[in-house]
Amino acid sequence: MPHAPRSSRAGHKAANNDTLVRKPLAAFLSLAGGLVLAGTAAAGSGFEPQPPKTPGAEDITDIYYFVAFFAAVVFLLVLVPLVLFVVRYRNRGHDQEREGPQIRGNTRLELAWTAVPVLIVAAIMAFVLIKAPGINSEPAQAGDALQIRVEGRRFYWRYVYPNGAVAIDRLRVPVDRPVNLEITAPDSDVIHSYWIPELGGKFDAVPGDTNDFSFRATEVGVFPGNCGEFCGVQHAAMTAEAEVMPTETFDGWLAREGQTQARGDSDLGEAQWKGVCLKCHRLQGETYIGPNLGANTTLRQPDALEAIVRNGQGAMPPVGQGWSEREMKALTDYTRTLVSEGGGDGS
Ligand code: CUA
Repeated sequence: MPHAPRSSRAGHKAANNDTLVRKPLAAFLSLAGGLVLAGTAAAGSGFEPQPPKTPGAEDITDIYYFVAFFAAVVFLLVLVPLVLFVVRYRNRGHDQEREGPQIRGNTRLELAWTAVPVLIVAAIMAFVLIKAPGINSEPAQAGDALQIRVEGRRFYWRYVYPNGAVAIDRLRVPVDRPVNLEITAPDSDVIHSYWIPELGGKFDAVPGDTNDFSFRATEVGVFPGNCGEFCGVQHAAMTAEAEVMPTETFDGWLAREGQTQARGDSDLGEAQWKGVCLKCHRLQGETYIGPNLGANTTLRQPDALEAIVRNGQGAMPPVGQGWSEREMKALTDYTRTLVSEGGGDGS
């Protein structure tokens, strides 16, 4: 007999039934409210992908939303009944001695919960297989692609352009033109991962190996990114940026960098100091990752500085291994000005 009340509770039976009807509704409403809040918070805090700026990144975003849709449906299918059952069949107000109905299988239900997940996984797999080739598809038609070498280093990104110009951390590319990044890392380094979400997926920078990442940016702007592979103490500081420029602006920038770096009056030294040295050092103040350099006379001794930067020392990796002579000179020229001026740490 359902709801067999003890004599003391008989009088409350009507009221009790009323709350049993209303509470699942309350539970459902609070769950729905919680989901809306969580969704809003996720959207506000940047959990949703940034609008893609390349066709390849578009494919990745499509896959993200396709999978997220099924994930949300499954989440609700599991969680809503779970909460309803917890509330509806909770201990209070029910006879604990009573046997439940003896159910022995339900063929239709069992077929459904086998077939539906298989269909969902098949749909996701088909969608990903259709979309995946587009993620890195530019090389096929990219005979005129701009080739840029990208080196992942502890803890900065070094870009080498076809005219020999070098850049640190900020990648500059022209809009609407295929670009091919040859992503690698020196043998002396560790694995990093180049990741500018709005341009496309992550590509590992593996010592001694090269991964090609081809894309065509469709929009001018500056897009942030980060190293996507834990690579050491300053992994989180290993940020990257891509600046997509109008074609003429880019051509002008590249030609100017090529000339000034060849002449030795470029801003490369400052970029190296900020992007390479300041990832771990400060001139003065509270000690950062490595020792402060303000009182270090090596900053004024190009040969000694070059030896440390090329070979590393103690815990410091060989951050300048493989740098050309003129790259090294750009840095030593710049550090000399730092100490003689005795100025701030430039951070
Ligand atoms: Cu480089 Cu993490």
